[in-house]
Amino acid sequence: MLILLIIFGALVAVSLYGNLRVHPPSRKIPIQGQGFPEGFLWATGEDAYQHEGGNLNNDWARWEATTPSPIEDGETCGPAVDFYTRYENDFALALNDHQNAHRIGIEWSRVEPQMGIYDEVAWEHYETILLSLKEKCFVVFFNLWHFTLPLWAVDLGGWESPAVMERWEAFVRECSKRFCRYVDYWSTMIDAQIYALAGYGLGEIPPCRRDIKLAVRIYHTLIHAHARAYHIIKEFGTITENGATKVPQVGMIYFFFHYAPKSFFLDRIVTDQTDKIFNWAFLDALHTGIVNIDILFGPSAKEHSAAIKGTLDWIGVNYYTREILDFNPFMPGMIDRITYAQYPTTDMGWEIYPEGIYHLCQKIRRRYSGIPIMIAENGLADAADNRRPQFILDHLAWIRRLIDEGCPIMGYTYWSLTDNWEWAKGFGPKFGLYRVDRQTMARSETRSARLYRFIAQHNRLPEQDELPSLLKP
Ligand code: BGC
Repeated sequence: MLILLIIFGALVAVSLYGNLRVHPPSRKIPIQGQGFPEGFLWATGEDAYQHEGGNLNNDWARWEATTPSPIEDGETCGPAVDFYTRYENDFALALNDHQNAHRIGIEWSRVEPQMGIYDEVAWEHYETILLSLKEKCFVVFFNLWHFTLPLWAVDLGGWESPAVMERWEAFVRECSKRFCRYVDYWSTMIDAQIYALAGYGLGEIPPCRRDIKLAVRIYHTLIHAHARAYHIIKEFGTITENGATKVPQVGMIYFFFHYAPKSFFLDRIVTDQTDKIFNWAFLDALHTGIVNIDILFGPSAKEHSAAIKGTLDWIGVNYYTREILDFNPFMPGMIDRITYAQYPTTDMGWEIYPEGIYHLCQKIRRRYSGIPIMIAENGLADAADNRRPQFILDHLAWIRRLIDEGCPIMGYTYWSLTDNWEWAKGFGPKFGLYRVDRQTMARSETRSARLYRFIAQHNRLPEQDELPSLLKP
């Protein structure tokens, strides 16, 4: 026992104080003139809560109003960027920018403000905006749930409650019946693992619980919530029009980090564990039917279920950054993050690491062979818009390489069309291709919007001599 303790202690010491293996910054690969396959999807989009405004009937609005404010800039989402009334204007920007695909989401608390009671005006609103997207010939991505729950659902116990799961199924059925004509790609939910781990494990976002056992349970519940939604949409969203049957394509949008261990083997252990739980266990379950959520020295959930197996027709990849992890017994989960001050970062301090999208998509392709990938979000907070153009170019160059190597990438979504509410960070981080003046709600173009317009219009990256005019202030 003593020997084991000594060995363990030595390993901890080596891991904490050992030589730092330098992680090189992202490699540069050629950008100039590279073309994309015909029909490649060029998208932007909006999220219901982050963009619409006026969503006061859910748990986020309630949380934001607590004192002291849990939001970094002390604001509340309130009117957000008023996408709810300005959608035509925003769709016109995307259309004018030669984009051919667009993502929106629905806010559950709007269409079902009280349990079991639907608001017809709200349903019609979503139908109108979907129709508008279709009239403009966008390929439509439609997301059903992202973090926010109606207050009545929270009061029932949120995802812990079987009654909420029942209402979720009814909501999904209603969406499928009403919107199947307009939607090309259904996403059941966005960043489900973040909701479970940050909402129930770390207590950082609603419902602000710190109970890792419960976090694992909710993670598991959401796997089933997705699978149930998948089957419902397949059933109720399948339509036959003019003799042709349209079977809905159902997937989910999911946040991935490109993880790297700092150096020694304990760093590797915590990194592999984080990678498995954060990046893979959720999607693996949907692909294989095998649930295996196993927290190191913590709770686990295991199951084999035919009902969840094969419930991903496509995968929406949200990629933003790399995280370098090291073992630190004094941190929650014994994990710490390393940042190298000399590497480029976004306004939010996230490392700019375009190469990560390449490694990540290669892993996805190996793991879920044959499932199409949509880059559902890629972007950065950059108020001055001075890093964004290169960020877009470099990520697209890596995506181009993935396509060359046979990776089934159907399109790219810059996140997001306009500035918006960056959750607990408030309105500070500016992700938009279009800046939003929050007094007047006016949208104004950035250089990056111009660059992205060029790329979408020509379906290729610019040549060296085309860049100066595109990038002039
Ligand atoms: C979320 C967005 C968020 C972005 C940047 C994404 O995974 O879906 O809501 O704005 O990350 O944090």
